[in-house]
Amino acid sequence: MKALTWHGKGDMRCESVPDPKIEHPRDAIIKVTACAICGSDLHIFDGMIPTMQHGDVIGHETMGEVVEVGSENTKLKVGDRVVVPFTISCGECFFCKRGFYSGCERSNPNHTVAEKFWGHSPAGLFGYSHMLGGFAGGQAEYLRVPYADVGPIKVPEGLSDEQVLFLSDIFPTGYMAAEFCNIQPEDTIAIWGCGPVGQFAIRSAFLLGAGRVIAIDTVPERLALAKAAGAITIDFQDEDVFERINELTSGRGADACIDAVGTEAEASASFDSRLDRIKVSAFMGTDRPHVLRQAIQCCRNFGTVSLVGVYGGLLDKIPMGSAINRGLTFRMAQTPVQHYLPILMERIVKGEIDPSFVITHRAPLEEGPALYKTFRDKKDGCIKVVLKP
Ligand SMILES: NC(=O)c1ccc[n+]([C@@H]2O[C@H](COP(=O)([O-])OP(=O)(O)OC[C@H]3O[C@@H](n4cnc5c(N)ncnc54)[C@H](O)[C@@H]3O)[C@@H](O)[C@H]2O)c1
Ligand SMILES: [Zn+2]
Ligand SMILES: [Zn+2]
Repeated sequence: MKALTWHGKGDMRCESVPDPKIEHPRDAIIKVTACAICGSDLHIFDGMIPTMQHGDVIGHETMGEVVEVGSENTKLKVGDRVVVPFTISCGECFFCKRGFYSGCERSNPNHTVAEKFWGHSPAGLFGYSHMLGGFAGGQAEYLRVPYADVGPIKVPEGLSDEQVLFLSDIFPTGYMAAEFCNIQPEDTIAIWGCGPVGQFAIRSAFLLGAGRVIAIDTVPERLALAKAAGAITIDFQDEDVFERINELTSGRGADACIDAVGTEAEASASFDSRLDRIKVSAFMGTDRPHVLRQAIQCCRNFGTVSLVGVYGGLLDKIPMGSAINRGLTFRMAQTPVQHYLPILMERIVKGEIDPSFVITHRAPLEEGPALYKTFRDKKDGCIKVVLKP
C-alpha cells in the first residue's frame, strides 16, 4: 500500500510499504477514506519528537471502512464506516475504566522507554514515535487498529467524511480544552493559537456558554476564521497581549486561558520566545513555553489555565510564583478521545457544529509531503489539510 513515511527532519515521503495485517483477535483493518495532517505531526516533521525511525508511517487523524476484523472483535463488521481516535486504549484497565483512555496502561508496548522520560507511560498513539508504541499511523491506504472493539466509532447515515473526520482528534481536543475551563455564563476565555485546535476550542467555548472569547494569533486568515466564530481577536505581533486582555477585562485578567499552541510557539513573538529558540537549538532546553508563561500572567486570580498545546520535556522559567500566589488551576491532557466521541457525534448530528468549516486543502496522499510544508509554513491560506487516499 501507499503511505506517508518519515525520513528525518523535514523529509516526508509517499512510498510503498507492506499492507497491515490482523495481529491480534481484537484488531480491525480499515481502508482509509480520509485522513488529516495535525499540528502534532508538525512536531515530528520538525524533528522534535524523540524515538522516531526512518520509514515510520505517521498520521493519527483517520477514518475509513472496515475491511477485515479479528476473530474476537464482536463490535465491528466488514463494511462499517468508522472514525478512529488517535489514542489506543484497551477499554478494561484502571485508567480506561475511569474514562482516562489516553492514560491506558496496556496499549503502549514500549512503556519502559516512555517511563524513562516521564516517570509513567501514557497510552500508545497511532503514528507517534516508538516511545509511544511504534504503531504505524493512518496517513496511508490501510490502517491496523488495535483494540478496535473500543476505539472506533461508527458513523451514522447521512454524515460525510469531512463532517466526522475531526472526531479522531482536534474536535475532542478543542472541546476538552474548553471543558477544562468550567465555563460560567459571562466568562471571558482567552485562547492562544488559532490553528485547527484553537478553532475548535473557540467554537467549543461558545457551545459551552462562554460570554466572550479572545483569540490570539498572527496569521490573518486564522484570525479571520476566529472572528467569524464570534471571537475578539488579538494579533500578537501588533499588540501587547497582556495589556489588551487587561483592557478587555477591567484589569482583572481572563477567567480562563487556553494554550492551543504548545512547544512550537513563534520564535519572533517576544524576547523570551527568542531565548527559548536559542536554548532549544543549543540543547540547553527541550521546549519553547512562551505561550504558557503568557497564559499564566494573563489569567485572573483563581482562574484556570487549560493546556492542550503539546510540550515534550522540561519547561524553563514557568512563573509558578504567579500561579500559586494567585490560586490558578491547571488542567491538561492528551485527549481521552473515546470519552468525548458519543457527546460530540451527537452535537454534529444535531447540527450544532459542522467540523468541516476548518478545511482549506483537500488532496490525494501523494501530495502529502508537499502539504506538510504548506501547512507548517502557513502558506496558501492553509489551515487544515485532508488527504483522501
Ligand atoms: N492535547 C492533545 O491531545 C492534542 C491534540 C491535537 C493537537 N495538540 C496540539 O495542539 C497544538 C495546536 O495544534 P494545531 O493543529 O492547531 O497546530 P498549528 O501549528 O496549526 O497551530 C498553532 C497556531 O499557534 C499560533 N501561534 C504561534 N505562536 C503563537 C503565540 N506566541 N501566540 C499565539 N498564537 C501563536 C500559530 O500561528 C498557529 O496558528 C499543537 O501543539 C498540537 O501538538 C494537542
Ligand atoms: Zn493530532
Ligand atoms: Zn486501558
